[in-house]
Amino acid sequence: MAVLVTGGAGYIGSHTVAELIDAKEEVVVVDNLSQGHRQALLGGKLYVGDIRDADFMETVFKENDIESVIHFAAYSLVGESMQNPAKYYDNNVYGTQRLLEIMKKYGTKRIVFSSTAATYGEPQTVPIEETAPTQPTNTYGETKLSMEKMMKWFDAAHGIKYVALRYFNAAGAHHSGRIGEDHSPETHLVPLILQVPLGKREHVSIFGDDYPTEDGTCIRDYLHVSDLADAHLLALERLRSGGESSVYNLGSGKGFSVKEMIDVARKVTGHPIPAVLEPRRAGDPAVLIASSAKAKRELNWSPRRDNLEEIVESAWNWHRQHPDGFTE
Ligand SMILES: NC(=O)c1ccc[n+]([C@@H]2O[C@H](COP(=O)([O-])OP(=O)(O)OC[C@H]3O[C@@H](n4cnc5c(N)ncnc54)[C@H](O)[C@@H]3O)[C@@H](O)[C@H]2O)c1
Repeated sequence: MAVLVTGGAGYIGSHTVAELIDAKEEVVVVDNLSQGHRQALLGGKLYVGDIRDADFMETVFKENDIESVIHFAAYSLVGESMQNPAKYYDNNVYGTQRLLEIMKKYGTKRIVFSSTAATYGEPQTVPIEETAPTQPTNTYGETKLSMEKMMKWFDAAHGIKYVALRYFNAAGAHHSGRIGEDHSPETHLVPLILQVPLGKREHVSIFGDDYPTEDGTCIRDYLHVSDLADAHLLALERLRSGGESSVYNLGSGKGFSVKEMIDVARKVTGHPIPAVLEPRRAGDPAVLIASSAKAKRELNWSPRRDNLEEIVESAWNWHRQHPDGFTE
């Protein structure tokens, strides 16, 4: 009996695979390596291919007894999703449809799924609870919301139970120092800041300092990637013990501004990290902070690595050891 991890060679996927291996689960990974890296896998059986490829997925399900799925495979660049919505509907929405169809065919009844804070859009109140209105302001968030809704109807029709985990901002790297964050292009704040002390960029950009926050820069909620990973195992447990389908926010409940993040990185790296002010980007909410009370209550989850300096330090350790990221 195996857990299939789609997108398991990516950033959050590979950290979740590491936790599954530690928990002695049998792990099968499907990744087309469009963003993922072979080296990011600390275990599991890798199938290189695309979740939209029905013949390929048929082989994966035939060769393995897939008991549950954890579904990370998706595109997640907000800017690109606004330029090329079809690419996002095809991979994220149609890809999920193909996955649910093959799960239905093989009788796999559980799926844990990467959703996002982007499903909420501009929040009316913070911290954001799961009952808040979902009004995405970009195509990426809209496709993730569509994926959640598709799962609801596959549950109603075919009894495939799901947990959608709405992540806020993942950061940091695995305690082994062997795996970390390597996206191309990189759009996430922590690795972008760390590219300065690595000598890969001259400065970090701050997009707008006239938001209604204390220092005028945007505030986000950062969670250690291994704490995110842990939540997937707890969500799986919930479904295995007969839990109903549900949606959970995952965040630390604490917000840090862009300027505060740069200051933390300066302290951790000992580098002055010059910052340059640029205009606001369209569609960036001022403050995104999660209420994770529901996940704490129902999944018994709480972040264990909640010191921001330690999170940034774990990322810095990995980047220093792997200045060019993974080599394959
Ligand atoms: N990183 C974050 O802070 C964050 C926040 C919110 C939501 N998410 C969501 O979490 C998931 C994982 O994020 P990540 O940062 O690890 O991204 P990632 O790009 O590192 O991982 C996604 C993986 O899926 C693979 N993939 C993509 N399309 C595929 C397909 N059609 N078939 C097979 N493999 C495919 C990629 O090669 C990659 O390895 C994504 O779905 C993302 O939308 C991430």
